[in-house]
Amino acid sequence: MSEIINYTQMSNKAVNPFSNRRNFIKITSLGAVALGLQQVGCSEGGKPAEPVIPGFETTSTKRNPSEGWVPFSDRKLRVGLVGYGVCKFAASFGFQNHPNVEVVAVSDLFPDRCAELAKITNCKKTYPSLEEMVKDDKIEAIFCGTDAPSHARHAIEVLKHGKHVATAVPAVFGSLEEADMLMEAVKKSGLKYMMFETSCFHEDIYAMRQIYKAGGFGKLVYTEGEYYHGPSLTGNGVPLGSYKNWRLDMPPQWYPTHSNAYYIGVTDGTFTEVSCIGSLINTDKPANNQYKNPFSSEIALFRTNEGGIARMARTDTPGLIDVIGRVQGEKGFFYGKGESDKGEVGMFNMKYVGYEKNLPDLNRPPIPPGVPPGGHDGSHGALMNDFVLSILQDRKPLVDIEMALNLTVSGIIAHQSALKDGEIMKIPQYRI
Ligand SMILES: NC(=O)c1ccc[n+]([C@@H]2O[C@H](COP(=O)([O-])OP(=O)(O)OC[C@H]3O[C@@H](n4cnc5c(N)ncnc54)[C@H](O)[C@@H]3O)[C@@H](O)[C@H]2O)c1
Repeated sequence: MSEIINYTQMSNKAVNPFSNRRNFIKITSLGAVALGLQQVGCSEGGKPAEPVIPGFETTSTKRNPSEGWVPFSDRKLRVGLVGYGVCKFAASFGFQNHPNVEVVAVSDLFPDRCAELAKITNCKKTYPSLEEMVKDDKIEAIFCGTDAPSHARHAIEVLKHGKHVATAVPAVFGSLEEADMLMEAVKKSGLKYMMFETSCFHEDIYAMRQIYKAGGFGKLVYTEGEYYHGPSLTGNGVPLGSYKNWRLDMPPQWYPTHSNAYYIGVTDGTFTEVSCIGSLINTDKPANNQYKNPFSSEIALFRTNEGGIARMARTDTPGLIDVIGRVQGEKGFFYGKGESDKGEVGMFNMKYVGYEKNLPDLNRPPIPPGVPPGGHDGSHGALMNDFVLSILQDRKPLVDIEMALNLTVSGIIAHQSALKDGEIMKIPQYRI
């Protein structure tokens, strides 16, 4: 722990030379921890550090997430929720709390889970499966918090029945064919599709995206994203009991969206090619496991569509567990703070250092009062609200089909590269 704290102080010191440059424009340290570090690292000679951007003085946990919310309609979108497994995901995005949503039906294959989901969401109608639920004409949109291998099939089934759909990540699980089928289904339907990539509504990535759009980075030269998961075990070392054990032995880069978001979620760009190395350290995977996957860590080096470089890390080994990242552009850089504000994982700070004076509002959009910000750095409520508004306001959801597939498929190709000991491989580009 002490080594890690030193690292944060060092990174803050590294910022200081900028404050002496004539062209220095702005250093921003964000959040409660960050303010502490401003005192440590950004105020040499007793001088106060540069001002914090207005509206960003507090952490996501302290700011009222509904500040600025303006009710805009009495209409209630009729939603179905599916999948109440290990993560209880169907209930955890707050659909049941949104003033413009009526949860009209819920489903899980296990009757006891289905009953609990109905109770938690205060919903009377249940279906024994998604396949039965999609036939209900009352339902306008369905959220699938089902197992990852089923996401594409479930989303296509929902779209075929004329309903908008959102799924948890990833968009597809290891299959390029399913990626094409999903793209076709979305295009053909003309309906909304969204993937609930939690990193995209992290406080740090959201801010990075606003700065990127405002030109505060120029092109991104180099970015890093890390999704350090830890082995998918319970506290007793027993494998997480996911549906049909889909998590067990999975190729790390088949679950790449949280880390890849530190480029694609910032720019809405793509990765064009990849070389990826897999590690055999700390793995007891049998060679003949269900995915024939030998790796517990896969580190990918991508070329971006801007001509930059991105290093995206996935590990499923013990140690630090977090989603973190940072971007470096032609005109500025930004250090992310990671997913959690607390404890060991809250050791990094958000910082923008760059040459853009007129930064836009970096706060995440407001969510309706009563909707909890939820987990993964308060991203759950924001994702759900974005999906609901995209339908009610007929606009593009943030993580639409293009971004979802660009985030997901790049990892599938990265795993293929790792199996070929780092061979450089081209990545399909998804654009409607
Ligand atoms: N940060 C994040 O974005 C994040 C974090 C955790 C989990 N996830 C994702 O959330 C999803 C759910 O995770 P989990 O651990 O709860 O999965 P899980 O495998 O434990 O649960 C899946 C549930 O879906 C249900 N289901 C499957 N097919 C169904 C069907 N046809 N009809 C009705 N119900 C069906 C199963 O019965 C099961 O209860 C996964 O896709 C995972 O990738 C994302």
